[in-house]
Amino acid sequence: MVTDSGLLKVLLVTGFICLATAVLCPDSSQWNLRTRARCNSSLPSYNCLYDDSTSSFVEFCTRTPDFQRPGYKFIIRGNIDGIECKKKRYQPIKFWTNGSYHCLLEKTACNGQGQVIHDEGNSTSDRTCRCDYTRGFAFVIRPKQDCFCHPAHEDCSCFIKPCSKFQVMTPDYKCIKASDWNGIFECPVITKTITTTVTPQKTTRCPTEKSGMFKH
Ligand SMILES: *[C@@H]1O[C@H](CO)[C@@H](O)[C@H](O)[C@H]1NC(C)=O
Ligand SMILES: *[C@@H]1O[C@H](CO)[C@@H](O)[C@H](O)[C@H]1NC(C)=O
Ligand SMILES: *[C@@H]1O[C@H](CO)[C@@H](O)[C@H](O)[C@H]1NC(C)=O
Repeated sequence: MVTDSGLLKVLLVTGFICLATAVLCPDSSQWNLRTRARCNSSLPSYNCLYDDSTSSFVEFCTRTPDFQRPGYKFIIRGNIDGIECKKKRYQPIKFWTNGSYHCLLEKTACNGQGQVIHDEGNSTSDRTCRCDYTRGFAFVIRPKQDCFCHPAHEDCSCFIKPCSKFQVMTPDYKCIKASDWNGIFECPVITKTITTTVTPQKTTRCPTEKSGMFKH
């Protein structure tokens, strides 16, 4: 066990003792094991949380576990502090410190064949996905909401729905004659954002006079 005196700080306000800093928190399957190894009967609840000030994880024991409302998790920022789940994760239920260190669930990528993200969701709910009709994809099984689908609750698979010659697919996943396109649809239109991932170019810039490197 790490007992570097520099790490052994007692936080009086919440009454916990910092045991060690860790690179990562244990997997949830290891949580019980770690509780037995690290904590004792006087401080029986094992915690592992991200410490914002040191950018590392901190393990400690408390008398009781603490919880946060849905959509929030705890981090250490001086004291224990609640913050909203990051964009990539969500948590529909309470966050308990005795079993987790980050928001419980990872958002669905909506990156199956022909899938695109319909909505980013929020800190308590997953993304919704839809099929990219602009490339001829439609839902294999019509979702409850017609236009988009909840990946946690239903099958969001897409397939290339064949339209006959001279037909195009509408945002409602229907094949129509191009000349019948009236712009009135139930489902939102996908507006393509040009996704040219600009890789930042590493330029080796020589110091200029302005940068003050060269003084006359
Ligand atoms: C319980 O553990 C804490 C630190 O983890 C320690 O300071 C304390 O002395 C322990 N208590 C007992 C009864 O072993
Ligand atoms: C955490 O503590 C709460 C309240 O005591 C309990 O309901 C929950 O089952 C515990 N979770 C784990 C993973 O032990
Ligand atoms: C998150 O989204 C769900 C489902 O759309 C909604 O019911 C809930 O109110 C939203 N929560 C927040 C905090 O916006």
